[in-house]
Amino acid sequence: MNEKHQKNEDLMEKIVSLCKRRGFVYPSSEIYGGFAGVYDFGPMGVELENNLKTQWWKWMVHKRQDIVGLDSSIFMSPQIWEASGHTKGFSDPMAECKECNTRIRVDKVLLDLGVEADEKMSEDEINMLFDENKKNIKCPNCKKQNFSKVKKFNLLVKSNLGDFTESNSTPSYLRGETCQGIYVNFKNVMDSVHMKLPFGIAQIGKAFRNEISPRQFLFRGREFEQMEMQYFTKPEDEMSEYEKLREYRWKAILSLGFKEENLRWKKHENLVFYAKEAYDVEYKYPWGFDEMEGVHARGNYDLTQHSIGSKKDLVYQNEETNEKIIPHIIESSGGVGRLFFAILCDAYTEDEMGGEKRVYLKLKSSIAPIKAAVFPLLKNKPELVKKAKEVFDMLNEEIQPILFDDNGNIGKRYRRQDEIGTPYCITIDFDTLGENPEHLNTVTVRDRDTGEQERIAISELIQKIKA
Ligand code: GAP
Repeated sequence: MNEKHQKNEDLMEKIVSLCKRRGFVYPSSEIYGGFAGVYDFGPMGVELENNLKTQWWKWMVHKRQDIVGLDSSIFMSPQIWEASGHTKGFSDPMAECKECNTRIRVDKVLLDLGVEADEKMSEDEINMLFDENKKNIKCPNCKKQNFSKVKKFNLLVKSNLGDFTESNSTPSYLRGETCQGIYVNFKNVMDSVHMKLPFGIAQIGKAFRNEISPRQFLFRGREFEQMEMQYFTKPEDEMSEYEKLREYRWKAILSLGFKEENLRWKKHENLVFYAKEAYDVEYKYPWGFDEMEGVHARGNYDLTQHSIGSKKDLVYQNEETNEKIIPHIIESSGGVGRLFFAILCDAYTEDEMGGEKRVYLKLKSSIAPIKAAVFPLLKNKPELVKKAKEVFDMLNEEIQPILFDDNGNIGKRYRRQDEIGTPYCITIDFDTLGENPEHLNTVTVRDRDTGEQERIAISELIQKIKA
């Protein structure tokens, strides 16, 4: 293993371990031995996750007069998945290594060799392509070249909802993407809140996919959350709105504090037949650049399919010309988990402080799980604890969440907050109480990134933390 590869593996391990140690992410069902492809977010994780979702909502709904929100259900009529093409398509071609049972995504492996496998290819066709290129394909795990035949696996997760015969003859599905709930509510939203083209509908919610090989921590799971916005345009405006949306998403992503050099655009070479253009925003994960989110120009495919499937006219009537059109759609689609993982990779920093190695998360205050921590210098001095609680209460009225910690020595408390990315630690000491009258009602505020401390008046704390 070369040095760079080793370093990247180490970073992955360090982040996964920090996530567990500090309450960001736990493997699901851990006490029962785990459950592949599913994760639980702990007390710090849920704060960070909510902050990322709030920021997304702010950019994609609240800052925009032309976009509204939606929260559609996870279960929907199975006809929706027929009409959208998910019951037939939406599958990954997989082969299994007969030596070590590692599964590979055949289309991805072929693409690495410069060979494109069209997603409409039948199983026979893709097997032929795989056979032609087999001599150049090794198992990523055991490096042997002994593969099973390629099989296409549908990614939709079936359920027995409403099936009381247990025959599962008409399965319902857990949604495979949130945007279908938007398409089928297009008319409801248009009619009820009177949106005029161009306009968008945004939603955040869970999606489920029967991924054959969930991997790379939160990157590819079986249960995950999506943040999607579908923007409905006149046909002639689709591509100009698409360019605007790409620019807007780039700005919104950078506003989270990412290092720009760790992000890039990647154009899709292999488009689905109805798509006009598609780009991914890729983040430099520990294994290299990979998809974080996408912006796609989808033509009028989605509303056309649901018009046919539902036999309802999903059209927009121009009130001036009376012309009826099927709007075209551009979408912004991202996974909360992929963004969460990327922001952790970006923020993870190691340095030396006071002769010791330390780890900290350089998170922007707006997304940090805890905005500030309040410490009494000593836990066995009631007067310090009382004053610290007063400061905590005052701050917590205005800024949430604030954390109170009186456990262990101050150095250890700093390290704990550094590891969860808390921008400020506030210590109440004897000077606060007037031991040095000049410092009465002042506290020390330690900056996470520099470790420097300054003494400021309690009355200035809110302004300092909010800045
Ligand atoms: N509506 C379009 C759509 O769902 P996609 O490229 O399949 O497109 C969009 O998914 C985003 O959802 C991806 O960019 C990724 O961030 C996230 N995503 C997809 N599959 C995922 C999985 N198995 N685990 C975690 N996130 C996933």
